[in-house]
Amino acid sequence: MKAVILVGGKGTRLYPLTCNTPKAMVPILNKPFLEHMICYLKKYDVLDIVLAMGYLPNSIKSYFGDGTEFGVKITYLVEEKPLGTGGALKNAEFLLNEPFFVFNGDVLTEIDLGDMVRLHRETNPRVTIALTPVDNPSLYGVVETDARNMVKRFVEKPGLHEATTNMINAGIYIIEPEILARIPASTFFMVERELFPPLLEEGQPISSYASDAYWIDIGTTEKYLKVHRDLLSREKLPSPCHGLDSHQYISIENSSGAYHEARIEGPVLVGKDCTLGKNVQIKGPAVLGERCEIGENAIVEGAIVWHDSKMGKSSMLKNCIIASNCHIGDDCRIPDGCIMGDNVAIGKGSRLTPQTKVWPGNYLYHS
Ligand code: GDD
Ligand code: MG
Repeated sequence: MKAVILVGGKGTRLYPLTCNTPKAMVPILNKPFLEHMICYLKKYDVLDIVLAMGYLPNSIKSYFGDGTEFGVKITYLVEEKPLGTGGALKNAEFLLNEPFFVFNGDVLTEIDLGDMVRLHRETNPRVTIALTPVDNPSLYGVVETDARNMVKRFVEKPGLHEATTNMINAGIYIIEPEILARIPASTFFMVERELFPPLLEEGQPISSYASDAYWIDIGTTEKYLKVHRDLLSREKLPSPCHGLDSHQYISIENSSGAYHEARIEGPVLVGKDCTLGKNVQIKGPAVLGERCEIGENAIVEGAIVWHDSKMGKSSMLKNCIIASNCHIGDDCRIPDGCIMGDNVAIGKGSRLTPQTKVWPGNYLYHS
C-alpha cells in the first residue's frame, strides 16, 4: 500500500526549533524525525511514500532524495499555499487508485499496521482510523465508537471538559480512494472537520483500530523532550529503528572526538566528533549532536543539544533544548524548559529563567 505522509504544517508549537527546520526534519536521537517514520513504515513493507509538503520543503528533499538510500520510493508534492490535511490528499489524488495509508507527519508510534490493514479488509469501511488512549483528549480529535468498534462520532479538539472518551485519532488512516471525490480541489480542507463528521452523519461506515502500542505526537516542545526520554530509557519503544541498541546505555558515535576526561552517566547519545573537556559531566537522558564542544567542568543534564553547538567552561544545561550552531558562554545557567533556536549566542555568566525561549540568531545576556 502507498502512504501519504502529511508534513506541510508550520509546527508553530515547536517554535523556536521549527523556525528554520520543518517538523519532519527535527532531530530525534540525532536523526530527522521522518527517518524514524520511514524506518517504521519499512517494517510493514510500506515502501511507496508520497510526502505532502508546504513549509520549508527543500531540506526534506535534499536529505531524502528519491528515497533509494533509505530503501523506499519517495514522491514529493509541494503546496503553494497550505491545503490542510484534506486538501493535501486531494492534491495527491492522481497518485492514489487503491486503498492507501495516511500519516500525520509528527507521530512516532509502534501501532501494528499489518493488523490495521487486516481490520480494514474485514470490515470494508470507507475509512479506518487508528485510535490511541491519551490523558488529555481535548487537544486531539476525539473518537466515539460503538460496540462493534465502528466510529459513531468524531470531534476535533472539543472543549476542555467536553471530551466523552479518552480515545483519540492517532493520525493514521486507511482511506478508500473514492472518498477523495468529496474533497474540493485546490481548497483548504481538513479531514478532521470537513470529511469525517459529514461521512458519519450520512451513515457511511468508518472503522476504528484501537491500539495501546507506544504513541506520541512530537508537536510540542514538552513532547519533544518526552520522546527523547522515552526512547533513551527504551522501556517504551524497544525498537532497533530508534537509536541505541538494547545493551548500550551510552553511545558515542565515533572515536575521533575527545571525550575521555568526561564523566558520562547514561542513557546518553553523543554524536560524531564531539569534544568534551576535562571534568565535563553528561547526565542522561541526554543527547549531543555532531561536532558539539563542551568546555571544562560544564554539566549537561537531561538536555538535547543539536549539531555544532558550543558550550563554555563551567556552564550548566538542565532539561533544556539547544538547537544547532548555538554559542553558550562560560559560566552560564540554562535551566528547565529553556529552548534556544539555531545560531543563538548567550553571553558569559548569563543566568536564564526557566522556560526562556530565544528565537534563532539572537544574542542574549541575562544576569
Ligand atoms: N501537506 C500539509 N498541508 N500538511 C499539513 C497541513 C497542510 O496544510 N497542515 C497540517 N499538516 C500536517 C502537519 O505537518 C502534521 O504532520 C499533520 O498534518 C497534523 O497537523 P498538526 O498541526 O500536527 O495537527 P494536531 O496535532 O493539532 O492534530 C492532528 O493530529 C492529532 C494526532 O496527533 C489531528 O489529526 C487530530 O485529530 C489528531 O488527534
Ligand atoms: Mg500534531
